[in-house]
Amino acid sequence: MADEITIQQLDPERFVAEKVEQIRGAVGGGSAINALSGGVDSSAVTMLGHRALGDRLRTVFVQNGLMREGEPERVVSLFADLGVKVDVIEAREEFFSALEGLTDPEEKREAITQTFYRKVFGRIVRESDARHLLQGTILTDVDETVAGIKRQHNVFGQLGIDPQEAFGYGIVEPLVELRKDGVRKVGEHLGLPAELFERIPFPGPALAARVIGEVTPERVEVVRKATSIVEKALAGTGAFQYMAILHEDRVTGMREGRRDYGNQIEVRCWESVDARTASPSRLPWELLERLASEITSRVPGVVSVTYNIATKPPSTIEVV
Ligand code: XMP
Repeated sequence: MADEITIQQLDPERFVAEKVEQIRGAVGGGSAINALSGGVDSSAVTMLGHRALGDRLRTVFVQNGLMREGEPERVVSLFADLGVKVDVIEAREEFFSALEGLTDPEEKREAITQTFYRKVFGRIVRESDARHLLQGTILTDVDETVAGIKRQHNVFGQLGIDPQEAFGYGIVEPLVELRKDGVRKVGEHLGLPAELFERIPFPGPALAARVIGEVTPERVEVVRKATSIVEKALAGTGAFQYMAILHEDRVTGMREGRRDYGNQIEVRCWESVDARTASPSRLPWELLERLASEITSRVPGVVSVTYNIATKPPSTIEVV
C-alpha cells in the first residue's frame, strides 16, 4: 500500500515535480482522460495532469444526475478561467437505470462504480485513443475500503482488481499518498482558486451517498435542494463538512391545517481534520432553527428536519 506523506512532510513544489514525472512516465507518448467532479481531489488531479500532459489530457465532467445544483456550469466556467477545457458527458439515464430498485448501500455503490468505470468510461476510452485514466484517489479512500467499512467507488488496485483487465485502461493515482489537508496544499500550489481548494469534501457517489433507500431522480432532487440550502447556511461555520440527507422513512406532518405525510431531512455538520474521526459541530440553535424553517418551506414534501449529534466512529461522515 502507498506510504503516507503527512502534511508536515509535504513539500508541494517537490511533490508536484515528482508527480508530473510519474504521470508522464505512466502515460508515455499516449493520451489520458480524467473525470472532474469539481471536488478538491479531482480538481487537483486535473491541474496536475494538465501540467504533465497539456493537450494530451482530456478532462470530462460526467453528468450523472447526482451532482449538486448548478455544478456542471460552475465547473466548466471555473476551469475555463484556469485555461482547462472541460467536456460535459451526458449519462443521467445510465446511472438512474443502474440504480433502479436498489436500496442496499453497498449495492448502490457497486452500481455507480460499474456504470462509471465500465459503461461510461469504457465508452469514452473506446471512442478515444486514451489508455489511462488519472484519478484523485486519496489515502483515506483506500484505508476505509481496505478496512471493509465502505467500498469507496474509486479504489481497485488495493482490492486486487486490475483496472486494465477489468475495464481496459490503466488508472494513475498521483494523490494516493495524501490526505485531504495535503491535497488542499497541493491544489493551492497548483493555482486552484480558494473556492476550489478550500471546498468541503464531496463523495464520489455524489448525492446518491445522501439518499437512504432507492435513488430516483425525484428523490435526488429533494436532497439536491436541501443540500443547496445547507451549504449556503453553513458556509461561514468553518466546519470540515456539512450535508443534507434524505431519509427513507416518512413521517406525519401538517400543512395548512391538513395531514401531510412527508419526507425527513437530516442535517450533519462535522468537525474533523482528516475525516478519520469526526464530531458534530456545536451549531448555534438560531442557525439550526433557520435551517429547519428554510428546508421545510423551500423543499417540497419535507415536513421534518433533524440534526445529527453522534460522532464518527461509530457513525461515518456520509450516511450510505
Ligand atoms: P465516510 O463516510 O467514510 O467518509 O466517513 C469519509 C470522507 O470521504 C469522503 N468521500 C467518500 N465517502 N464514499 C464515501 O462514503 C466515497 O466514494 C467517498 N469519496 C469521498 C466523504 O465525503 C468524507 O469526507
